[in-house]
This record gives sequence, structure tokens and C-alpha cells, in this order.
Amino acid sequence: MEFDTKTRPSYTSDKTSFAYISARDRWPVILTGAIDDVHRAVSETTDEEKRTEGKRIVEELAKLNPLPDDGKPDIASYNKELEQLGSPSWFNIPWLYAECYLYRRIATAFALSSHWKQYDIFARQKMSTFRSSRPAVLELAGRYHELIKQMENKGNKSQEELDAAEKILFMEMCEICLWGNATDLSLLTSLTYEDIQKLQGSEARKASEKNIIANDLEAAYNTLKKAKSEGKKYRQVDIVLDNAGFELYVDLILAGFLLSSGLATNIILHPKAIPWFVSDVVPKDFADLLNALANPQPFYSTPSEDEVAAGKTPTPLSQKEIDELAFLFKTWSEFHSEGQLMLRTSTFWTEGGSYWRLPSSAPKLYEDLKESEIVIFKGDLNYRKLTGDGIWDPTTPFTTAIGPLGPGSGVNVLALRTCKADVVVGLKPGLDEELKGEDKSGKREWAWSGKWAVCSFSNGK
Ligand code: F6P
Ligand code: MG
Repeated sequence: MEFDTKTRPSYTSDKTSFAYISARDRWPVILTGAIDDVHRAVSETTDEEKRTEGKRIVEELAKLNPLPDDGKPDIASYNKELEQLGSPSWFNIPWLYAECYLYRRIATAFALSSHWKQYDIFARQKMSTFRSSRPAVLELAGRYHELIKQMENKGNKSQEELDAAEKILFMEMCEICLWGNATDLSLLTSLTYEDIQKLQGSEARKASEKNIIANDLEAAYNTLKKAKSEGKKYRQVDIVLDNAGFELYVDLILAGFLLSSGLATNIILHPKAIPWFVSDVVPKDFADLLNALANPQPFYSTPSEDEVAAGKTPTPLSQKEIDELAFLFKTWSEFHSEGQLMLRTSTFWTEGGSYWRLPSSAPKLYEDLKESEIVIFKGDLNYRKLTGDGIWDPTTPFTTAIGPLGPGSGVNVLALRTCKADVVVGLKPGLDEELKGEDKSGKREWAWSGKWAVCSFSNGK
């Protein structure tokens, strides 16, 4: 629309694009999963009215027509955009709009019901996948505890040594936070739980360092360090969250590190206001994660339905593991109750367009983000929205591709994104061709699986 980039966005009609693959292969799987979930919930209820309503919701889910008004301000712009697109089909529509529309449509169907208003069709999957990330969760809890102890115990190290250590830790924490994005639930259509566990371990992380193909973490660190050295009392970092479960857990690890090291004094987390792209964080996921950590033994040791069916009994947590998780819970809940770690929702994040629209669509949110030292955007969808999901030349500077949020915007942007879509910018000349290798089909397949990543920074001040 009016404020968007003029670079053409990715369309589902382009057969060489990931947009096409996702419309053809992934949406049906995601929608069928959603329908299965409602059927399951319908069969669990004895309330006849609720059952009838649940069945009607299922019929609503895959339509592509104007959204019914659920009282929220974004419905009008969704419908206006749909009208401007003419009569699009699922296979001839801008990919970004179509996917947002799909999840917005699902939310509308529930919002307009009387018995299913708060229902999150993805909640079951989000929690069970988090539970299956147990090895990586425990490994990181141990590492985090160790690290905080080291930071508190400065010994007789010089300021220079302390600064060097802080910088290395910042990089490591950001990388942990970055790779936590590689395993979102929309990829579960092609990955097994075992694949995910392998991707989440520290070995995999180290091996993946070379796969960060644009890396501005040093500039981001220098920005935070400078604000701290200048003696600024209030230094906020915002994290525009992506996925719940393991990714939220690593986001909290980064948030905790920034607060404990004094690189930030306050963290604002931005979850979504409605269930979104299967696994994105809604406020309840944050509460559920803390509850699981508050009482980890029953969470991990009570067999799941699948484990019961397979006759498996999970190994109970050791006392050391319980203590390390308790340490995390205590640190995070203290930051939360002190007001240093806060959640702030906005309906802007679930609108149908790109973040090029932020200054005009959500001026208040835009002003808030200018207060931040750095706004960290997690994940693939946030990156697509920052860059307008455009078919940019991959050597375009990141600062150009994010348009109104680039230099002069007043917002410092750091994108931590594992690549799961075609759009990519900020690459060295020739790298895209190298990664495409022998494949002359025009497809950018290397960028679809979360194997490669970018950490791109734009100084907007
Ligand atoms: O359909 C694939 C997809 O939904 C992409 O549109 C999206 O970019 C990605 O999966 C979700 O990834 P992330 O959770 O990193 O935003
Ligand atoms: Mg996501």
C-alpha cells in the first residue's frame, strides 16, 4: 500500500519461490493440524452448544473473503487491502499478506464465538515442543548459571579483560538467541523432534558460526556499550519476539544477560496479541513457560500422551538440574516483578503489511521504539516484514531495505534471523550465486531451511 517499498514483494504465483512451496505444501498441513486440534477439543467437551460452534469455526478457517468485523481496529485495513488486490486466489497473492490474513482469519473465527474466545489452536503444540527441547534447556540453564557466577566474581581482572569477556559473552548470547529461531513450529512440517534437539545443542551452535552470512553483532554491542559508558541511567532494549517455547527461553537468556551485565537496565518484550504463524509468543505462553520452570519436575517427568502410548517413562530431573532451573526462574521473576522485564502487546505486529508502515500505522509504538537503545527483531517473519518481503538484490544494504526504519528513523534495529524465506539483503557480492551453486533454476533454496542466518544492524539515531 501507500507506504510500502516499491520493490515487488514475493508472490505465491512465482513457482520458483518459497512462497509457492509454502502455499502448496505447508499451509494445508498447518490448516489440517489446526482443524484436527479443534476437532479434538470439540470431542473433549460435553457442552452441546460449544460443540456446534466449534464445528462451525472449522468451516470458516480456509476462506479467502472479507474478514468479519471482530471489533479490532486492523480488520478495516485487512479488508481494504484484500479489495485492492482484486479477487486474489491463494496461488496469486502477495505471500506476506496472504499468510497474515490466514492467521488473522483464524483469530476472527474464535474471537466471534461465545465459547472459544480465548482458545489458542497452537497452544498444545507449543508446550509439547518446548518440553521436547529438554536437553538444550538443561544445558543452557547450567551454562547460564555458571556465567552469571563468573560475572559476579570479578576477581582481580583488569577492566580491559572484563570488557573483552563481556563482548565475547554478548556475541555468544546473541548467537544462542539467533539459533533458537532455527526450529520454529512451522518448520515442524519437515523436521522431527530428534532433528530439532540436534539443532538446539551447543555443538550445533559452534559449528554454525560460519553460517552467519551477514554479521553486525559488533556494531550492536558497541551501541549498548557506548550508552552504558556515557552513564545513561535508563537504557531500554526491546525484543520483538518470535516463537514460544525454546526460542522464548533463549530470548529470556539474552534478556537476563543484558540486565545482569548492565548492558541494559530494562527489557521490553513484544509478544503477539493473537495466535500467530503457529508458534509465535502470545502473553499466555510467557506465563506458561515461567510456570513450567517454577515446577519443572512434574512438567518433565509426567509422561505425555505419546510417551504413555509408547510405554516410555521420562527420566526424572536430577537435583542439580532442578536447582539450575530454579535459579533461572528466580532471576527472571525478580526482573519481572521489579519492572525491569516487561511485556507490551500491540495489534500492529499482527497487521497484514510490512514494517515500512510502522510510522504511519502505529505512531505511538514508533515513538516508544525510539526510546530504545536497540530494538531486536527476532526471526524470519519479522525480517520479511522489515524488508517488505521484497525481491531485493541480495547485495542491497540492510539499511536501505528497511526503508523508514533505517538511518534517520530514530530507531536502532538489530535483526536476528535464520533464513527461512527468499528475501535476503546485506550479502557480499557473489555469495548468493555461490550458495545457489549448480542450481540454475532461479530458486534460492539455500535460504529456506534455517541453515543460514543474518544478524543485521541499522543505526537509526
Ligand atoms: O510458511 C513458512 C513461514 O510461515 C514463513 O512465512 C515464516 O517466515 C516462517 O515460516 C516462520 O518463521 P519465524 O518463526 O522465524 O518467523
Ligand atoms: Mg514465528
